[in-house]
Amino acid sequence: MSSVKRIAVLTSGGDAPGMNAAIRAVVRTCVYHDLHVYGVIRGFDGLIKGDIKRLEARDVANIIQRGGTILKTARSDSFETKEGRQIAYENLLANDIDGLIVIGGNGTYAGGLQFMQEFNLPVVGMPGTIDNDIFGTDYCIGFDTAINTAVDAVDKIRDTADSHNRIFFIEVMGRHSGFIALHTGVSSGAGAIFLPEREMSIEELTDLLRKSAKRQKLFNLVIVAEGNKNGDANEIAKQVKVLNPEFDVRVSVIGHLQRGGSPSAMDRVLASRMGHSAVQALMRGESGVAIGLINDKITFTPFHDAIHKRKTLNKELVKMAEILAM
Ligand code: F6P
Repeated sequence: MSSVKRIAVLTSGGDAPGMNAAIRAVVRTCVYHDLHVYGVIRGFDGLIKGDIKRLEARDVANIIQRGGTILKTARSDSFETKEGRQIAYENLLANDIDGLIVIGGNGTYAGGLQFMQEFNLPVVGMPGTIDNDIFGTDYCIGFDTAINTAVDAVDKIRDTADSHNRIFFIEVMGRHSGFIALHTGVSSGAGAIFLPEREMSIEELTDLLRKSAKRQKLFNLVIVAEGNKNGDANEIAKQVKVLNPEFDVRVSVIGHLQRGGSPSAMDRVLASRMGHSAVQALMRGESGVAIGLINDKITFTPFHDAIHKRKTLNKELVKMAEILAM
C-alpha cells in the first residue's frame, strides 16, 4: 500500500532540456498507480502563490520532445523566509497534497530539504541542471542535450576558425563546475580547456598555443567554462592578444542556447527513469532523497549529501584531453 495519495511536482532554478520528459513520467506513473498528481507553476514561488493544478495523463501528452518546462521555473526569494514556506505548506494542505517531487539543482534540493524538515512532508528530488554538478548521480537531466548543443556550435565555429587561421575562445556555461566545458572540449577536439576546477595561467596557455603554431596547427579552439578563475572568454582572449599580438583572436559566447532545445534521447530516457523512480520512492515511504543514476542503476542519495558533497571531474578525462589536444 502506498503511503502517499496526492503528489505535487515542481521545477525550480535554471531550466534544463528533459524536464518535460521528467514531469510526464511523474504524472503518468502517478496515474498508473491511481494517485492524484498536481503541477506547481513557477517552482517554490508558485507554491507560495497557490498556483497548483491537477494534472491528468493527457495534460502531459506531446511534451516529451519539448525543451524548457511546461510548469515554468523560478529562483524564489520568498521561499527562503519562514513565512513564505509556511504559506506554501498551507497551500499544499489545502489540496491534501502529501508528497512533493522537486526537479532542479542544489538550490532546489536545499529548499526541498528545509521544507521537509520544517513540516515533515515527504520530499524527493530529481537532478535537473545542464551543469551536471550534482553529487550522487553520473548524469543530470539536461546535460547531454546541452553538451550536444555546445559541440554543434563549436563545430560551426571550427569551420570559420580553420578558414581564417584564427584562435577562437568559446565560452560555455558552468558557474561552479567544468563538466560542460570538459565534455564539449573533448568532443570538439579543443586545443585547451579552462575549467573552474583546474588552474591554468595565461602564460601556460600562450606557451601551448605557440607550440601548436610551430607544429603548423594554424587554428585553435579554446573552451572556457564561465566559472573559471582567469575571467570570461573576452578577458582571456584580451590577455592572450596582449602577449601575442600576432595571433588573430576571436571570441564566441554560446550562452543560453545551451539551456534550450529538444532533449536528446539520452536525456529523455534519463528523465523518464528518474521521474518514474521518484514516484515509486514516495510510494515506498522514502523522503529526503535525491534520485541519481550511477553505473546505469537508479540510486538514492540523502539530500544533505547531494547538497554538500562535491561532484568531481574525472581526472583521467582532464589529462586525456590535454594529451589529445596536441
Ligand atoms: O545552473 C545552470 C546555469 O545555466 C549555469 O550554467 C549558468 O551560469 C546559469 O544557470 C545562468 O543562470 P540564468 O539563467 O539565471 O542567467
